[in-house]
Amino acid sequence: MPTASGKSPSPLLTALRQGTGPCHKALEDRLPFFDPRFDRPAYQRLIAAYYGFHAPLEQALAGFLPALEPQRRAKAPALVTDLRNLGLTPTQIDALPLCTALPPVTDQAQALGVMYVLEGSTLGGQVLKRAMAERLDIGAGNGGAFLDVYGPETGSLWRGFLQFLEQAPGSPADQARVAQAAIDTFTGFERWLERREVLL
Ligand code: HEM
Repeated sequence: MPTASGKSPSPLLTALRQGTGPCHKALEDRLPFFDPRFDRPAYQRLIAAYYGFHAPLEQALAGFLPALEPQRRAKAPALVTDLRNLGLTPTQIDALPLCTALPPVTDQAQALGVMYVLEGSTLGGQVLKRAMAERLDIGAGNGGAFLDVYGPETGSLWRGFLQFLEQAPGSPADQARVAQAAIDTFTGFERWLERREVLL
């Protein structure tokens, strides 16, 4: 897989990919986007569950890694837009359950691992955006804004993130914390979605 610079991946990126590869596969296999029975009500429940994880996690990330412009990379606002367009009122959105068993974010290393997962998910979003348009006729204006949250900037924001990651200082111990935080993010998200009963 290419990196921001076109060079071979840094030890940190390699550790992240190796550590989270199996988690990504496990979650991808359980997400219902490609299930033949997946319909609009199920999509709405899934987006509500995504909101319940992303909104509190983005709050937890606030203040860490300012160089990555977390405001610009926030995805919870797009999830709110989608929920509104799918028919929820602001009161209903405010009442949605929020995950309390979040991956810990107590330092920059953990914040970086969490961000890797949230930023990487915009790549899969490109695949899901096309699938939801074809299967459910859902696009940016009627419930699919989150899946294409960065629009034409998806590639450049991902490359910018990788560049930051490749330059991140840190001992091997720090790097292990980054990778562990990314794994914890995947497993925490999967557990949350399971609890919300939206997985296959
Ligand atoms: C059915 C759902 C999903 C599909 C089909 C999918 C698909 C993909 C695809 C095609 C890529 C890009 C690989 C590449 O360009 O080399 C990718 C990367 C990634 N996805 Fe997913 N994805 C899904 C769900 C998720 C979720 C829910 C998360 C996290 C919450 C996630 C996190 C990541 C990460 C971190 C990467 C970056 C890997 C890297 O290049 O280092 N994905 N995904």
